[in-house]
Amino acid sequence: MNRFECLSCGKTAVPKACCFLCPDCGEPLLAAFEPGPGRRAIRMDKSYSLERYADFLPLAGADPRLSLGEGQTPLIPLSRLSAGLERPVLFAKNEAQNPTGSFKDRGTAVAVQRAVASGFRRIGTVSTGNMAASTAAYGARAGLRTFVLLKEGTPVTSVRAAAIYGPVMATVEGDYGRLYYESLRLGSELGICFLNSLDPFRVEGYKITGYEIYLQLGRKVPSFLFVPLSSGGHLIGLMRAFADLEEEGFADAYPTFVGVQAEGCAPLVRAFESGKIKFERLEKARTVAHAISNPAPPGGNAVLKMIRERRGILISVSDDEMLDAQRRLASTEGLFCQPESAAALAGWIKLGDRGGLSGDGAAVVVLTGSGLKTLQALEALPLPVHALRLEDLGRGLKALARTA
Ligand SMILES: Cc1ncc(COP(=O)(O)O)c(C=O)c1O
Ligand SMILES: [Zn+2]
Repeated sequence: MNRFECLSCGKTAVPKACCFLCPDCGEPLLAAFEPGPGRRAIRMDKSYSLERYADFLPLAGADPRLSLGEGQTPLIPLSRLSAGLERPVLFAKNEAQNPTGSFKDRGTAVAVQRAVASGFRRIGTVSTGNMAASTAAYGARAGLRTFVLLKEGTPVTSVRAAAIYGPVMATVEGDYGRLYYESLRLGSELGICFLNSLDPFRVEGYKITGYEIYLQLGRKVPSFLFVPLSSGGHLIGLMRAFADLEEEGFADAYPTFVGVQAEGCAPLVRAFESGKIKFERLEKARTVAHAISNPAPPGGNAVLKMIRERRGILISVSDDEMLDAQRRLASTEGLFCQPESAAALAGWIKLGDRGGLSGDGAAVVVLTGSGLKTLQALEALPLPVHALRLEDLGRGLKALARTA
């Protein structure tokens, strides 16, 4: 696979090294599908994801030794949360169960295959946290040197979760939006293959989540798919997966995609609501949802185009709505995701309350990352812990049992 296309201007290009930006308009380039002689198939006899979905991936082959066991995450019914509501049945696709605790591993797994096959010894990424850990882990697995450029203000727990894999790390002061493009330019010069959020191989890796959802629903397409949205890579990957399924005749329907941003950083929702085809970058972002706080998302215009063409929806939710959804998901269903992921559930709650969720079928919220990654987000909450004395335990516990 060496042909790439720009969703924005339609130009196809054969880019050099790892700088996948359109030479004409600067928008991200995505893998262009080159039809082979037969139909593409899901190879159910293969258990390794990159082999099972090989017909849909831009790789000549995949080395299972580079895998950390990503994918095959559960699709869990959320029957308590949706009990009594006249809405499509609700499920969570729990991407927190990936090797480094987030969906990023799906994309990193594919992007690292490509980097190794192309002879790179050094990879890198620009990250707000999850991608740093994921890229550093897969870099370590493949015996590569990994360079991680972190957004200023990345929570220290996220920095540590990446540092343990031994990458070269730096926090970068300055405009995070520009850092994305600077890293690609410098990476090409220095022989570091930067696998950033819109890397076309990474985006293709995210498609596998979509194929899995389709199989887990008994070869059906969900009516709604809720995805937290920042740079846009994940949503674009998922949208492409269902386009593949349609194109190959696996499905005759397409989900309504709902991209959810944090109110304090929602440049794409603003553009969507005012009918613009290009977003305006924000000057300031203010949200607890650090991992989806990108004021200049590199895939933003592509997302707007795809959402418009596929009649999707973009909405925003407040920090309180996210944190409330996070708590409800944990306390009623036993799933602990990070606030950024709970944005998807908060979006489901909000859209449903507005009467926007009717019909049968299934609605899926994608839980993109584990709550254990962002314990600091819970620090402001009261800790409901009682203090008891061992000598008095019987009486104390009885008193608690009466109130519970
Ligand atoms: C937990 C989590 N959810 C969602 C996203 C958003 O994904 P994307 O940047 O591909 O839109 C991120 C991005 O870092 C993330 O870490
Ligand atoms: Zn272009």
